[in-house]
Amino acid sequence: MKFFIDSADIQEIKKAVSMGFCDGVTTNPSLVARTGRPFKDVIRDLMEIVPGPVSLEAVSENADGMVEEARGFVGDYPDHRDKIFVKIPMTPEGMVAVRRCADEGINTNVTLVFTATQALLAAKAGASYVSPFIGRLDDISTGGMQIIEDIVRIYDNYDYDTEIIVASIRHPMHVLESALIGADIATIPFSVVLKLFNHPLTDKGIAKFLEDNSKIPE
Ligand code: G3P
Repeated sequence: MKFFIDSADIQEIKKAVSMGFCDGVTTNPSLVARTGRPFKDVIRDLMEIVPGPVSLEAVSENADGMVEEARGFVGDYPDHRDKIFVKIPMTPEGMVAVRRCADEGINTNVTLVFTATQALLAAKAGASYVSPFIGRLDDISTGGMQIIEDIVRIYDNYDYDTEIIVASIRHPMHVLESALIGADIATIPFSVVLKLFNHPLTDKGIAKFLEDNSKIPE
Protein backbone atom coordinates (compact mmCIF):
# COMPACT_ATOMS: atom_id res chain seq x y z
CA MET A 1 0.00 0.00 0.00
CA LYS A 2 1.30 3.44 -0.92
CA PHE A 3 1.52 6.06 1.82
CA PHE A 4 0.53 9.56 0.82
CA ILE A 5 0.93 12.36 3.35
CA ASP A 6 -2.29 14.34 3.83
CA SER A 7 -0.71 17.73 4.47
CA ALA A 8 0.46 21.04 3.03
CA ASP A 9 3.10 21.50 5.75
CA ILE A 10 6.45 21.38 3.96
CA GLN A 11 8.50 20.58 7.07
CA GLU A 12 6.48 17.48 7.98
CA ILE A 13 6.37 16.36 4.36
CA LYS A 14 10.18 16.64 4.22
CA LYS A 15 10.41 14.47 7.36
CA ALA A 16 8.12 11.84 5.82
CA VAL A 17 10.20 11.87 2.61
CA SER A 18 13.39 11.36 4.63
CA MET A 19 11.83 8.26 6.25
CA GLY A 20 10.75 6.85 2.91
CA PHE A 21 7.09 7.14 3.91
CA CYS A 22 6.00 9.69 1.33
CA ASP A 23 4.92 8.09 -1.93
CA GLY A 24 2.84 11.20 -2.64
CA VAL A 25 0.92 14.08 -1.04
CA THR A 26 -2.72 15.12 -0.90
CA THR A 27 -3.78 18.66 -0.05
CA ASN A 28 -7.07 20.47 0.31
CA PRO A 29 -7.98 24.14 0.92
CA SER A 30 -8.27 23.57 4.69
CA LEU A 31 -4.76 22.09 4.88
CA VAL A 32 -3.28 24.91 2.75
CA ALA A 33 -5.06 27.60 4.81
CA ARG A 34 -3.54 26.09 7.97
CA THR A 35 -0.01 26.85 6.64
CA GLY A 36 -0.78 30.59 6.29
CA ARG A 37 1.11 30.55 2.96
CA PRO A 38 -0.08 31.42 -0.58
CA PHE A 39 -1.23 28.31 -2.49
CA LYS A 40 1.22 29.01 -5.34
CA ASP A 41 4.18 28.97 -2.93
CA VAL A 42 3.00 25.69 -1.38
CA ILE A 43 2.60 24.12 -4.85
CA ARG A 44 6.11 25.23 -5.87
CA ASP A 45 7.64 23.55 -2.79
CA LEU A 46 5.56 20.38 -3.26
CA MET A 47 6.70 20.04 -6.88
CA GLU A 48 10.30 20.21 -5.71
CA ILE A 49 10.14 17.98 -2.63
CA VAL A 50 7.56 15.24 -3.24
CA PRO A 51 8.88 12.21 -5.13
CA GLY A 52 5.40 11.11 -6.36
CA PRO A 53 1.83 12.25 -7.08
CA VAL A 54 0.61 15.55 -5.63
CA SER A 55 -3.14 16.26 -5.38
CA LEU A 56 -4.22 19.90 -5.71
CA GLU A 57 -7.83 20.94 -5.23
CA ALA A 58 -9.88 22.85 -7.80
CA VAL A 59 -12.36 25.19 -6.09
CA SER A 60 -14.61 26.24 -8.99
CA GLU A 61 -18.23 25.13 -8.80
CA ASN A 62 -18.76 24.54 -12.52
CA ALA A 63 -17.04 22.21 -14.97
CA ASP A 64 -15.54 24.98 -17.14
CA GLY A 65 -13.93 26.58 -14.10
CA MET A 66 -12.57 23.27 -12.78
CA VAL A 67 -11.06 22.37 -16.15
CA GLU A 68 -9.47 25.85 -16.39
CA GLU A 69 -7.93 25.37 -12.95
CA ALA A 70 -6.68 21.91 -13.93
CA ARG A 71 -5.09 23.29 -17.10
CA GLY A 72 -3.54 26.06 -15.01
CA PHE A 73 -1.91 23.58 -12.58
CA VAL A 74 -0.35 21.48 -15.35
CA GLY A 75 0.42 24.56 -17.47
CA ASP A 76 2.48 26.06 -14.63
CA TYR A 77 4.47 22.83 -14.24
CA PRO A 78 4.66 21.13 -17.66
CA ASP A 79 7.61 18.98 -16.52
CA HIS A 80 5.52 17.65 -13.62
CA ARG A 81 2.32 17.04 -15.56
CA ASP A 82 2.29 13.32 -14.70
CA LYS A 83 2.62 13.97 -11.00
CA ILE A 84 -0.20 16.51 -10.71
CA PHE A 85 -3.65 15.13 -9.75
CA VAL A 86 -6.47 17.65 -9.72
CA LYS A 87 -8.95 17.12 -6.89
CA ILE A 88 -12.49 17.49 -8.14
CA PRO A 89 -15.59 17.16 -5.94
CA MET A 90 -18.20 14.41 -6.43
CA THR A 91 -20.86 16.53 -8.15
CA PRO A 92 -22.48 16.31 -11.60
CA GLU A 93 -20.40 19.32 -12.75
CA GLY A 94 -17.35 17.67 -11.21
CA MET A 95 -17.85 14.51 -13.25
CA VAL A 96 -18.12 16.56 -16.46
CA ALA A 97 -14.76 18.10 -15.53
CA VAL A 98 -13.25 14.67 -14.74
CA ARG A 99 -14.32 13.32 -18.15
CA ARG A 100 -12.84 16.35 -19.91
CA CYS A 101 -9.60 16.17 -17.92
CA ALA A 102 -9.32 12.45 -18.76
CA ASP A 103 -9.75 13.28 -22.46
CA GLU A 104 -6.96 15.89 -22.16
CA GLY A 105 -4.66 13.53 -20.26
CA ILE A 106 -4.90 15.44 -16.97
CA ASN A 107 -4.94 13.23 -13.85
CA THR A 108 -7.81 13.63 -11.39
CA ASN A 109 -8.65 12.68 -7.82
CA VAL A 110 -12.37 12.68 -7.08
CA THR A 111 -12.84 13.97 -3.57
CA LEU A 112 -15.63 14.16 -0.98
CA VAL A 113 -16.77 10.62 -1.76
CA PHE A 114 -18.95 9.01 0.92
CA THR A 115 -20.62 6.03 -0.79
CA ALA A 116 -19.51 3.14 -2.98
CA THR A 117 -21.94 4.21 -5.69
CA GLN A 118 -20.31 7.66 -5.80
CA ALA A 119 -17.00 5.82 -6.27
CA LEU A 120 -18.59 3.86 -9.13
CA LEU A 121 -19.59 7.16 -10.77
CA ALA A 122 -16.05 8.50 -10.39
CA ALA A 123 -14.56 5.42 -12.06
CA LYS A 124 -17.06 5.59 -14.92
CA ALA A 125 -16.24 9.28 -15.45
CA GLY A 126 -12.57 8.32 -15.85
CA ALA A 127 -11.07 9.40 -12.51
CA SER A 128 -7.45 8.47 -11.86
CA TYR A 129 -8.02 8.36 -8.09
CA VAL A 130 -11.08 8.26 -5.87
CA SER A 131 -10.93 9.53 -2.27
CA PRO A 132 -13.55 8.12 0.12
CA PHE A 133 -13.49 10.08 3.42
CA ILE A 134 -13.77 7.35 6.03
CA GLY A 135 -13.10 9.41 9.19
CA ARG A 136 -15.93 11.80 8.43
CA LEU A 137 -18.27 8.81 8.02
CA ASP A 138 -17.12 7.36 11.35
CA ASP A 139 -17.82 10.82 12.86
CA ILE A 140 -21.50 10.39 12.03
CA SER A 141 -21.73 6.79 13.28
CA THR A 142 -21.49 5.21 9.83
CA GLY A 143 -18.82 2.55 9.23
CA GLY A 144 -16.28 4.24 6.96
CA MET A 145 -14.16 1.16 6.25
CA GLN A 146 -17.15 -0.79 4.93
CA ILE A 147 -17.33 1.42 1.87
CA ILE A 148 -13.65 0.78 1.15
CA GLU A 149 -14.37 -2.97 1.05
CA ASP A 150 -17.32 -2.33 -1.26
CA ILE A 151 -15.32 -0.08 -3.61
CA VAL A 152 -12.44 -2.59 -3.82
CA ARG A 153 -14.96 -5.28 -4.76
CA ILE A 154 -16.78 -3.14 -7.33
CA TYR A 155 -13.55 -1.99 -9.00
CA ASP A 156 -12.29 -5.60 -9.08
CA ASN A 157 -15.58 -6.79 -10.59
CA TYR A 158 -15.17 -4.50 -13.58
CA ASP A 159 -11.39 -4.02 -13.74
CA TYR A 160 -11.54 -0.26 -13.30
CA ASP A 161 -8.12 1.41 -13.37
CA THR A 162 -9.18 4.07 -10.85
CA GLU A 163 -7.04 3.75 -7.70
CA ILE A 164 -8.56 4.01 -4.23
CA ILE A 165 -7.12 6.54 -1.79
CA VAL A 166 -8.42 5.97 1.73
CA ALA A 167 -8.79 9.55 3.01
CA SER A 168 -9.80 11.29 6.22
CA ILE A 169 -7.70 8.80 8.19
CA ARG A 170 -7.77 9.53 11.90
CA HIS A 171 -5.82 6.75 13.65
CA PRO A 172 -3.58 3.68 13.15
CA MET A 173 -6.51 1.23 12.95
CA HIS A 174 -7.68 3.00 9.78
CA VAL A 175 -4.22 2.35 8.27
CA LEU A 176 -4.24 -1.31 9.35
CA GLU A 177 -7.72 -1.95 7.99
CA SER A 178 -6.92 -0.17 4.69
CA ALA A 179 -3.91 -2.46 4.21
CA LEU A 180 -5.86 -5.60 5.16
CA ILE A 181 -8.63 -4.73 2.70
CA GLY A 182 -6.06 -4.05 -0.02
CA ALA A 183 -6.64 -0.35 -0.74
CA ASP A 184 -4.15 1.06 -3.23
CA ILE A 185 -3.23 4.11 -1.16
CA ALA A 186 -3.80 5.54 2.31
CA THR A 187 -3.40 9.30 2.67
CA ILE A 188 -2.31 9.79 6.24
CA PRO A 189 -1.77 12.87 8.43
CA PHE A 190 1.88 12.90 9.56
CA SER A 191 0.76 12.77 13.21
CA VAL A 192 -0.89 9.40 12.50
CA VAL A 193 2.25 8.13 10.69
CA LEU A 194 4.21 8.86 13.88
CA LYS A 195 1.65 6.93 15.95
CA LEU A 196 2.34 3.84 13.80
CA PHE A 197 5.78 3.63 15.43
CA ASN A 198 4.46 3.39 18.96
CA HIS A 199 4.84 0.25 21.03
CA PRO A 200 5.80 0.13 24.73
CA LEU A 201 7.85 -3.06 24.19
CA THR A 202 9.96 -1.22 21.57
CA ASP A 203 10.64 1.60 24.08
CA LYS A 204 11.30 -0.89 26.88
CA GLY A 205 13.60 -2.97 24.66
CA ILE A 206 15.67 0.08 23.64
CA ALA A 207 16.01 1.18 27.28
CA LYS A 208 17.16 -2.33 28.29
CA PHE A 209 19.69 -2.62 25.47
CA LEU A 210 21.13 0.81 26.30
CA GLU A 211 21.36 -0.13 29.97
CA ASP A 212 23.09 -3.43 29.18
CA ASN A 213 25.36 -1.79 26.61
CA SER A 214 26.68 0.50 29.35
CA LYS A 215 27.68 -2.62 31.39
CA ILE A 216 29.87 -4.08 28.64
CA PRO A 217 33.52 -3.72 29.71
CA GLU A 218 35.83 -1.58 27.48
O1 G3P B 1 -7.59 15.40 2.26
C1 G3P B 1 -8.87 14.98 2.48
C2 G3P B 1 -9.15 14.31 3.80
O2 G3P B 1 -8.14 13.44 4.13
C3 G3P B 1 -9.63 15.21 4.91
O3 G3P B 1 -9.55 14.65 6.18
O4 G3P B 1 -9.60 14.83 8.64
O5 G3P B 1 -10.46 16.74 7.25
O6 G3P B 1 -11.75 14.61 7.40
P1 G3P B 1 -10.40 15.23 7.44
